[in-house]
Amino acid sequence: MNKNGTLWYDTDGNPIQAHGGMILPHGDTYYWYGENKNGPTSLAPSGDIRVDFIGISCYSSKNCIDWKNEGIVLPASSAPGSDLYRDMVCERPKVIYNQKTGKFVMWMHIDTPDYRSARAGVATADAPTGPFTYLYSDIPNRSDCRDMTLFQDLDQRVYLIHSSDWNKTLRISQLTDDYLHFTGVCTKIFPEQEREAPAVFYHQGLYYMITSGCTGWDANSALYGISSNLLTGWKLIDNPCEGKNYRKTFYGQSTFVFEKDGHFYLMLDHWKPENLKASGYSILPVTADGMDLRIPFTEYPFQQTK
Ligand code: DGJ
Repeated sequence: MNKNGTLWYDTDGNPIQAHGGMILPHGDTYYWYGENKNGPTSLAPSGDIRVDFIGISCYSSKNCIDWKNEGIVLPASSAPGSDLYRDMVCERPKVIYNQKTGKFVMWMHIDTPDYRSARAGVATADAPTGPFTYLYSDIPNRSDCRDMTLFQDLDQRVYLIHSSDWNKTLRISQLTDDYLHFTGVCTKIFPEQEREAPAVFYHQGLYYMITSGCTGWDANSALYGISSNLLTGWKLIDNPCEGKNYRKTFYGQSTFVFEKDGHFYLMLDHWKPENLKASGYSILPVTADGMDLRIPFTEYPFQQTK
């Protein structure tokens, strides 16, 4: 059984390579997308710790416990200069299904190895298990994009939520109906708060956003913010983690919140910068009650009480 805080294994017994990822419930299946880091960890000339880009992996599961490897659904490109060439950074892929176009749309953080170009890339597929076709990258509304997530609002509108202004702030950039471009509607939240790794969900009239601080691959304290309006009025509240190592997010970093059977779960990466492919995962229960958000460290699967 996979244990929180450790590397997880798929149904073939191989390490799950889906870092910085997300779980998409679709039909009766859950799809886990993430970075395949199954290569040597090295140092870029800039000093940044990296694994050459291999591709974005997908795993599927009916119960969210046993994960079948569906392979690399967006592979690295062999063309030097491409956004997806092996010397690039491609992180935190997030996928959403567009009911109008019937496409699965993936957005991801595209960067040069020194993390200075800070773009958002997009790809589409006709099936959740791909193959995804890479379209292009852009800087959303002329703003840089590093750690990012996607969020679908109650009216189906989708937003790219990204660390921006050299990680000093976060921005929320609205996507067009096909989820492939930016409408120009965008706002800036948490100015000068230096948050990254955003994970967003909505519950009973409130939007919640869990973020980490900006300390590279090293763990720090999570903070959550809330707002009754997705685009404005966000306030940082507190660290939602409870129990041993709560100040270090249990030595993990947020990547996504998903819903299963009416309950919310936070996915964490437990980065191992000395060997990134060995980085572990956690899936933790999230209890939201008005301004209060609690995330205890428990084993997965577990019984959710509320
Ligand atoms: C922190 C981010 O959250 C990760 O996704 C990765 O970009 C590292 N920084 C790189 O140092």
